[in-house]
Amino acid sequence: MRLIFAKDYEDMSCEAAKIVSGQLYLKPQSVLGLATGSTPIGLYDRLVQVHQTVGLDFSGVTTFNLDEYVGLSSENPESYHYFMKEHLFSRVNLRPDHCFVPNGMAEDLEEEGRRYDALIEQAGGIDLQVLGIGRNAHIGFNEPDIKFEAMTHKVRLDDETIRANARFFAREEDVPRYAISMGIRNIMLARRVLLLASGPEKAEAVYAAACGNVSPKAPASILQLHRDATIIADAAAAARLPEAWREHRSYHF
Ligand code: F6R
Repeated sequence: MRLIFAKDYEDMSCEAAKIVSGQLYLKPQSVLGLATGSTPIGLYDRLVQVHQTVGLDFSGVTTFNLDEYVGLSSENPESYHYFMKEHLFSRVNLRPDHCFVPNGMAEDLEEEGRRYDALIEQAGGIDLQVLGIGRNAHIGFNEPDIKFEAMTHKVRLDDETIRANARFFAREEDVPRYAISMGIRNIMLARRVLLLASGPEKAEAVYAAACGNVSPKAPASILQLHRDATIIADAAAAARLPEAWREHRSYHF
């Protein structure tokens, strides 16, 4: 695992944009795994900037988002599909038919999970998976006690996640209780993983991901076993990591 210690949210987003842009320059037909939430917004803004200023080309890129709320259509402003259109898809030259998000409106969510996994496989697998991290160390919507072998499936959101995500909805009661999410196995199958974390409320989760026991109680801890995982944490999110590590800009172990 590699850790990059960023000063703040801006610095974290810049470092992440360098890694994602580098991936696309090396392999213009890359398959990206993408996340929603507050954390990657700065990354998406910077990718749009690189696209506009030096022509970073997304025309050959395929994207797969991690998750979607059950019961929200892509036209619903609170859906993750809508979020992606607003923050990235409509702002760069991605082909709309190359941008995939699980369908939270599918009647049979088990079948939708299988369909989504098959699409990822047909695209050749994910080259670079971008992740945020929940306060409880969830990745995607793989909440504590998830089965590490899970592929895309229906999940029940933790009460803590519902409370944390209520900020995107008019009322906490409006937050869907279920989502469809790539599983830990999908994430582990990605060739590279890039996890971003910002803010003091993520410090415990980052500690669990990088230093804790590998356990389904802290889903992100599985990344310690990934062959090419990088965490970019800003100072507040990295605060619980050993000081000897934080003296460096980047640290491998
Ligand atoms: C979103 C996702 C989640 C978020 C996590 C952190 O697609 O899969 O795991 O990355 O809940 O969310 P923010 O960035 O809003 O703190």
